[in-house]
This record gives sequence, structure tokens and C-alpha cells, in this order.
Amino acid sequence: MARCFVTRTLPGDAVERLAREHDVEVWPDTMPPSRDEIARRLEDGVEGLLTLLTDAIDGDLLSRAPALRSIANYAVGSDNVDVDAATARGVPVGTTPDVLTETTADLTWALMLAAARRLAEGDAVVRSGGWRTWEPNGLLGRDVHGATLGLVGVGRIGGAVARRAEGFGMEVLRHGRSGGVALDELLERSDFVSLHCPLTEETRGLVGERALGRMRPTAVLVNTSRGPIVDTDALAGALHDGRIAAAALDVTDPEPLPADHPLLAAPNLLVVPHVGSATHATRAAMADMAVDNLLAALAGKRMPYCANPEVYG
Ligand code: DGY
Repeated sequence: MARCFVTRTLPGDAVERLAREHDVEVWPDTMPPSRDEIARRLEDGVEGLLTLLTDAIDGDLLSRAPALRSIANYAVGSDNVDVDAATARGVPVGTTPDVLTETTADLTWALMLAAARRLAEGDAVVRSGGWRTWEPNGLLGRDVHGATLGLVGVGRIGGAVARRAEGFGMEVLRHGRSGGVALDELLERSDFVSLHCPLTEETRGLVGERALGRMRPTAVLVNTSRGPIVDTDALAGALHDGRIAAAALDVTDPEPLPADHPLLAAPNLLVVPHVGSATHATRAAMADMAVDNLLAALAGKRMPYCANPEVYG
């Protein structure tokens, strides 16, 4: 029986499954455990750690974890974990790919449609009693059907977004590591630019002043990947100055944005609290995958969904 620390309560019954085999502590609060709380458990001999994207697991923490044998991250990404440091210590890092692909693609489309058709403004005006009559010029938006969609990142989620675009008769441009058009061409030609790349040193700040300057003044930026891929201040400036038409964000940098952040005062911004994978079925499936990763690693087997398979030699 190994000691495990799960940094938040997860949906579904996956953690019960883990607890049938191991000694499991679940952090009970809604807010994440502090770095010190995590460090204390690692120093005390935790062998299996189940983390969320809000837990920063860096090299220093890992050096204070003498018994740690496995990290299962409850996310498709692993950017909150220093994977190189984990690899150097022989610790496999698990992720939850595939299972959230379609759900995140659905949310991307919800954001794209909502931003294009100004749904948040429409909802607010009806609720406030500000809607007086049907108007020919009221809340005019942009057509999604027949428009050009530029996908930055053409992995699983980008692919699922592209499939949905077929139904809307869109032209789809792609830019990714494995090919497609040049980023500048995509930015210049797209009516909607949607980000689907992982956060790496290469993609951090990818959409900054320069990239935003290449976009059309009528274009909409959608981000359901990771907040730091977009330069928050540059985006706030572009929206305030009307250099792009709108942005729809599931992710921001930082998360959450402080209530007085200039981005939140920008016109034509739709922002939701990192809910890309937030359906009952998908979040439970992610918990199952994360627990499967921990159970395998703690049993001395290969993690089924591993971000650093090189630990297995
Ligand atoms: C992930 O798993 O990385 C997602 O961002 C969660 O919605």
C-alpha cells in the first residue's frame, strides 16, 4: 500500500478506486493546497501524487520528495510540472489526453459563436431591461458560416475543431509544427483565429503585439489552450484600440485575472473560467485516467498515458 496525495476532490468514483488499494489523502478545500502543504506531504513520504493544473510542481519540490514514484496530472497538458526534473529523478508524469478532445472542441465552438453573435451582450441587455424593441441595427455580429478559421496548433483538439468547421462551410487554415501555412499568412487571412497549441517556451507569448497586429480588425481571437500563449497586456491594448474585433477566452494569464485587470474592461471580450473540459462525463473520465496512471505506476507497470516515456528507458 503506497501513500498518495490527491490535491482536490475529483468527480466520479475514481479516487475511491485508488483508495481501495492505497493510503489516500484528498485535499478537501476548493482552493489548491499551498506549495508548503504539498512539500510537507512529499517530504513525509508520498509515493503517488495526483495534481491539477493549478499545482506548480517544480524541480525544487521534486528534490524534496524522497519517496515519490509517480505524478498523475489531471490535465491533457503537463506544463505545471517540471517534466525534465521528474524525468531526471525517474518519476513518470501522467496526463489525460484524448478524453477531453471533443468536449474542449465543443467549448471552442461555443465561444466562437457567442463572440461572433455577441451573446453575452444580448443576455445582459435583456436582463437589465435595456432591450426596448427589435432594431435593424441592434447587436449586429459576424457570420461564422462561410468564414475563414485559422487554427494555431493542429493536434487532437485542433483537429476536432476543424471537423466541426466543415458543417459551417468554413475554409480552415492550419499552422502547426508539422506543417500548414505560415503563422503570418494564417493571421492575415483568418476571420477567426483559434489557439490549440501546448504551452512551451516556443509558444509562450506567441500571440503578442506583432501577431495581433497581423490580424484583421474584424477578426475574433479564441483561446481554449493555455493563457500565457497570449500576451495579456497586448490583447487588452488591441481590444481597447479596436485593432481586432473581439476575443473569447477560456484561459487567461494569470488565472484568475484580478477584478481590476485592464483586460476585463476591454470591449468585446468574452471570458469564462477555464471550463474547456468541464462536463460531468469528461471530468469523471479524466479522473479515471489519472487514477489509472497512478495505479499502474505504483504497481511498477508502465503508465498508460505518460508525458515522459523516456523514464522507461
Ligand atoms: C487540460 O486538461 O489541460 C484542460 O485545460 C482542462 O480543461
